[in-house]
Order: sequence, then C-alpha cells, then structure tokens
Amino acid sequence: MSSARFEPAGPLRGSLRPPSDKSISHRAALIAAMGEGETHINGYLDGEDTLSTLAAVEKLGAKVRRERNSGEGPLNPPGLTVWIEGVGLRGARSAEIDVGNAGTLLRLLPGWLAGQVGREWKLDGDESIRRRPVDRIAIPLREMGADLSARDDHLPPLEVRGEPLHGIAYEMPIASAQVKSCLLFAGLLAEGETRLVEPHRSRDHTERMLEAAGASVSRDGNAVVIAPAEQLGPDDLLVPADISSAAFFLTAAVLVPESEVELKWVGINPTRTGLLTILERMGVEIEREDEAESAGERVATLRVRSTPLLATEVAGAEIPLAIDELPLVALAACFAEGTTTIRDAEELRRKESDRIETVTAALRALGGKVEPTPDGMAIEGSGGLRGGTIESHGDHRIAMLGAVAGLASKEGVEVVGMDAAAVSYPGFEADLASLLAR
Ligand code: S3P
Repeated sequence: MSSARFEPAGPLRGSLRPPSDKSISHRAALIAAMGEGETHINGYLDGEDTLSTLAAVEKLGAKVRRERNSGEGPLNPPGLTVWIEGVGLRGARSAEIDVGNAGTLLRLLPGWLAGQVGREWKLDGDESIRRRPVDRIAIPLREMGADLSARDDHLPPLEVRGEPLHGIAYEMPIASAQVKSCLLFAGLLAEGETRLVEPHRSRDHTERMLEAAGASVSRDGNAVVIAPAEQLGPDDLLVPADISSAAFFLTAAVLVPESEVELKWVGINPTRTGLLTILERMGVEIEREDEAESAGERVATLRVRSTPLLATEVAGAEIPLAIDELPLVALAACFAEGTTTIRDAEELRRKESDRIETVTAALRALGGKVEPTPDGMAIEGSGGLRGGTIESHGDHRIAMLGAVAGLASKEGVEVVGMDAAAVSYPGFEADLASLLAR
C-alpha cells in the first residue's frame, strides 16, 4: 500500500482530457463479446477495473487485441485501443472469473451468462468485492428462471448455471444502473419481453449501446422494455472521458483560489451530470464548450473557475445522477457557507467502501464538521479544512478525494493507500501535477 502527501498548492491551471469512462468501457467490452464479428473500441479505459473485464471476456472465449494510444487529440485519447471478436450472444464458455475490485463486472456479467443453457461460471474477486451484495441481481434473475448461488445467499463468490429464462415485469427497489443492465442482458436471452421500472432514473449507457447494436429497447420515463434478440452487431466506439474522473479536477478548481481548468471531451450524458447541477446550485459557473456527439453519447469541454460556495440540499432523483460524486459534494460542502445535507443516499454504504463512513471519517480527520445519517450526511461549512491524514480503505474515489482535499487544505493531507486510484484513474497524480505546473 502506498502513501502520498498533497500539500496546499495552486492555482490549478490548464487543460486536459481525463481518462475514459469506466461505465462505458465495461459495457463496450461485454457487448462486444456478445456480438458477432469484431468490434473496435478506441479509448478503452486501462484502469484495473476495466482490465478485469477484458480478462473476463477473454476467459469466456472472446479474442482480444490491444494497443496503447499515444493520448494526443480526441481521436487518439489516453487509454487503449481494443479489438474484440465476440463469441455471440449464446457462445460464452464455462469459466471461473476473477472480477478483481470491479462491482460493475460482478453485477453485469451474470445477466448475460444466466441464460446460456448447459454451462456454468463462478465469479469472485478481492476482499472489497466479497462485501458487495449480489442478491440485488440474484433475486430478479431467479424470477426469470436463473440458477444462481451466493455465499450466505447475498455475497460473492457467485455461481451461475445457465438455464432457459423468461421475461418478467420488475419494479426495482433501488435505482441501480448495474442491476438494470444485468437484467437487460438477461432479457436478451429470455423468452418474451422484460420490463424494468426504476424508482429514479440511473445511467442509461447500456440502453444506448444495446440499441446501437440492434436490440429492441424502448424507454418511457423510468421504465425500459427489452425484447429477446438472436444476435447483436455492436457499433465501433470512441469512449468519452469519464465525468466521474473529471469531477476531481472540477472540484479542485472550484476550491483552490484563482484556479481555472478546462476538461476536454467529457461525457455529459444527462444521467451522469448530477454533480454539475449541484455545483451550479452552490454558485459555480460551469461553461460547456465544443459540444458534440460520440457513439450515442454527448461530450463537451467543461471549463470551471474557483468560486465561493453556498450550502445546498441533495436528495431524491438527483442521487443516482451524482452517486459516485457525492463524496466530492461532501468535501465541497466543508468550504461552503451554511449546512449541506445529503439524503436518500443509503446506496453509498454499498460502494467500494461504506462511503458514508469513509467520507465522514476522512473529512473529520481533516477538521471537517460532518454528521453521518443512515442515508447520507450533514456537513457544516467550516471555512475549509485544516489537513491531516486519511485512509483510502482501498477505495479509489476516497484516495482521490484526499488529494483534492490536500491541495485546498491549510496544512496538507497524507493519503494512506493512494494506489487505490489506479482502479479508475492510473495517471491521476501525474495529471494533477500537470495542472499545478503552469
Ligand atoms: C455503475 C453504476 C453505479 C455506480 C458505479 C458504476 C455502472 O452503481 O456507483 O460506480 O457502471 O453501472 P449502482 O448501479 O449500483 O448504483
């Protein structure tokens, strides 16, 4: 485990293209593996999580070639170019899959496997993955006819034995793109339609990519219906930059006086931009320039400057739109005038760490005034943070939050377990240094 120290510094200035979107990369690899023929994915995230997905599809029988991009220009973004020759919707081989730390792989893949009759799979991963619940997918998949078993009926390892599936109508108890995507994959192999209704909308990359691959997907508000498919023809793809990674520099630029940064080619799918809306409510102006469309997803350059912040309330439908950025909202709230509340976010307890506990512990260790609640936090703005030492608890987003806190703090922050950042952002420290160097 490596530690790193982040001294008060700044301003942040300049421009960069953050690494590619993790959610889109996972889905691109899985859908390419389900497809016929070869799919070309440009700008595939070379983070630990998405490399686990490439290894998984190889084990299932897909052929994967990869090259490292030079990272210059929107058509040659940082990351990998991969070519995946699919096994077809019903052609995955039996295998034992190591998902590493990737909750998205753990939840999405069983949906595809469950309907492939006569074969079996076992999914397992690291210590953190062994605490991530899988009953959220096992319950509806069993309703579709799937045969799965999990440790204590809700934790990995997860075993899947392929069985014929039938479509269901399912009211999802939580808004979760992982559960929704899993059931959409299962619906491709089921008999009859599968209809899913979410309490609030979650990210919709899977729906977009399956539609582009020729599947019949119809959407109406919070409901999505998928029809079975014989085969998929996935589109070649240029993966946009991950707004969840851009979020660390957006927040750093807001908090560190006299900063101004530009983040290029960032995916601004409206199911992912909750942080932008929240920061705007707190008083930040975020300029969107050069808007374009790439493989069914909107992208833009985001420009932001340091700004004094006002407290806000975050709850309800906004939670899934900002789920991975809520730790940064809590950090920003320490610098805002007034008390910020986050509610309806109990799901934070089931991420790579219990993020209500780990964010509270981290911000308190730095002098923040944070009260955890069962489904969120209340954060009293205290004019900033003193500094100190925090633990990442193996959670990439907590490690990077610590780095941002350090720059904006009075005395600096030591992050124990900084190596966790490589799960989604391998070059994080170098990119941060490049914004501080100008
Ligand atoms: C993800 C969905 C979210 C998010 C996770 C990635 C995805 O999880 O927190 O980092 O790619 O589908 P839930 O669907 O469990 O909310």
